[in-house]
Amino acid sequence: MANMKVNIAGVEWKNPVTTGSGTFGFGREYNEYFSLSELGAVCLKALSAVPRMGNPSPRIAETPKGILNSVGLQNPGAEAFLEKELPWLRQFDTKLIANLCGSTMDDYVAVAEILGDQVDMFELNISCPNVKEGGMAFGTNARMIEEITQKVKAVSKVPLIVKLSPNVTDITEMARAAEAGGADALSLINTLFGMKIDVKTRRPVLYNNMGGLSGPAVKPVAVRMVYQVRQAVKLPIIGMGGITTGEDAIEFMLAGANAVAVGTAGIVDPYAWIRVRNGIEAYLEENHIQDVNDIVGTVEMH
Ligand code: FUM
Repeated sequence: MANMKVNIAGVEWKNPVTTGSGTFGFGREYNEYFSLSELGAVCLKALSAVPRMGNPSPRIAETPKGILNSVGLQNPGAEAFLEKELPWLRQFDTKLIANLCGSTMDDYVAVAEILGDQVDMFELNISCPNVKEGGMAFGTNARMIEEITQKVKAVSKVPLIVKLSPNVTDITEMARAAEAGGADALSLINTLFGMKIDVKTRRPVLYNNMGGLSGPAVKPVAVRMVYQVRQAVKLPIIGMGGITTGEDAIEFMLAGANAVAVGTAGIVDPYAWIRVRNGIEAYLEENHIQDVNDIVGTVEMH
């Protein structure tokens, strides 16, 4: 059996597969299909310092090979999470990643302080396209990325992953800004900003008019960005964007991802995470590769 362990910023995962924040809630529904202990890490739905109701419905729309969402970072708040969800999650032998959100830089600092060291890693969500303040507003400006990363890093008791937005001209500039701010790792990509119009009503399908596109439709963009970021920074990378099969995950790892997140695929098939993990293992075996880390960044360009 090939080694499947990966080390992301000093945190050892038993395998390179995690969940895309927002697609897995706090794991209770999917635990009916498989044990969360099967995953290298579980990245939880975004948490803010105070509860958020999210955006009005409709907030999900199907698109060719993908979905648009405008959930709006709905969550019960970090304190309710610690009280009601974390004790249950702690029974599993997996690493827990809290995705941090807020409207202001102080909000992000506050949620990091509330959570302290009660999870294994933080993921800084400065890439959600569905809110007026915070989210993508921070993640599309290199100066703000550096500043917010610095501020949250200063109070973080666990390694800090910065989740990058693809809605930028040059992803490498944003990756470098996160690195300069003290990020311990990067994750990419969050959703592509999109829109779908109902031609009968002549109105956008989503109440919020626009939303974030995820699913297989975005995969080539995500693979390209992971490759470019791998060339630009030394930080560990968690790659995501339309991963549905083990082969998709291998593509991201060849491009330079040290680990991968599966998200939208789980809405279609609740076993997607397990299928992807098994697919990575099968690829290693078929190609006589002893260690999953050996394939990272080994794409040979023309
Ligand atoms: O709207 C949402 O909750 C999406 C979050 C995200 O894309 O990070």
